[in-house]
Amino acid sequence: MPTRPNPVILVTGTSRGLGYEIARLLLTMHIPLSLVTVSRSYSPSGTVALPDNTIHSHTHIQLDLSVPGGPAAAVAGAVATYGRLDGIVVNHGVLDPVERIAGPEGEKEEEVEEREKVQGGGEGGEAAPPDGLDEWRMAWEVNFFSVLGLCRSAIPHLRATSGRIVFISSGASQKGYSGWGCYSASKAALNSLCRTLATEEPLITSISLRPGVMDTQMQRDVRERHGRAMGAGQERFMELHRRGALLKPEKPGAVVANLVIRGGKELSGGYFSWDSPEMRPYRSSD
Ligand SMILES: NC(=O)c1ccc[n+]([C@@H]2O[C@H](COP(=O)([O-])OP(=O)(O)OC[C@H]3O[C@@H](n4cnc5c(N)ncnc54)[C@H](OP(=O)(O)O)[C@@H]3O)[C@@H](O)[C@H]2O)c1
Repeated sequence: MPTRPNPVILVTGTSRGLGYEIARLLLTMHIPLSLVTVSRSYSPSGTVALPDNTIHSHTHIQLDLSVPGGPAAAVAGAVATYGRLDGIVVNHGVLDPVERIAGPEGEKEEEVEEREKVQGGGEGGEAAPPDGLDEWRMAWEVNFFSVLGLCRSAIPHLRATSGRIVFISSGASQKGYSGWGCYSASKAALNSLCRTLATEEPLITSISLRPGVMDTQMQRDVRERHGRAMGAGQERFMELHRRGALLKPEKPGAVVANLVIRGGKELSGGYFSWDSPEMRPYRSSD
């Protein structure tokens, strides 16, 4: 009987936080797999560590997914190394800019002038007048357009393997936290992309997941950098931290690792919370 080739899984944003945990958990699974991790930097501990006597293979691709060609290079790198692609976890993402839709709050006049000068290409530059939206565009390059690029490049390979894409979304995709307009809209766009992909690509299972409020760098930034723009909305996150109630990323990470390996077709197109009843079969380890 021909042996089934090892699944090849690509995970983005693995240098820290949830992505690191997803990658680490995949490398402890009992089925042999080939893992491709992607981030701009390595993790503080070097890179995702392979357990001893590993039955898995691992390659790290260091690149910025927001640059043109970045997503295509990541997919091409995975396929060139391991010859196929069975799953992608789209985990990379940025929260910044955290500012209100009306613009950054409390900026002094000279700060506005300086920002506009930089955005307009400097004094005497020929650039178009600044509209103050460059940071939002940059965030959408990371949170949305790079994801679209990954999907486009991966679709032919995932059709061939009846593969899976797990989009790491956020509860913010359904909410209106003050200062999070850019982030929330980009995560809502991922849920939408996931729904459309499920309709257009019936061979591919597409799932959008809310991982919960986790103890990662992103939450440290919420507490330490974003009070001014978030106003009263910051308190919920401060309180979760005070109570020690932030999730360890390995909890939702286990759900994601299981989903990308064996997520059921019936989930395709859906948006789920990591602790929803639908995710119960994926919470335990393999
Ligand atoms: N933390 C939470 O409470 C929370 C809640 C809901 C949803 N989420 C979502 O969960 C995911 C992971 O969050 P986290 O808290 O683990 O965030 P994090 O600690 O800030 O990690 C983000 C990861 O994305 C990578 N990344 C960012 N920009 C990139 C780019 N242009 N190209 C390649 N990699 C890039 C970063 O690596 P480099 O900087 O090395 O590139 C890093 O590994 C995100 O999508 C986030 O929106 C988080």
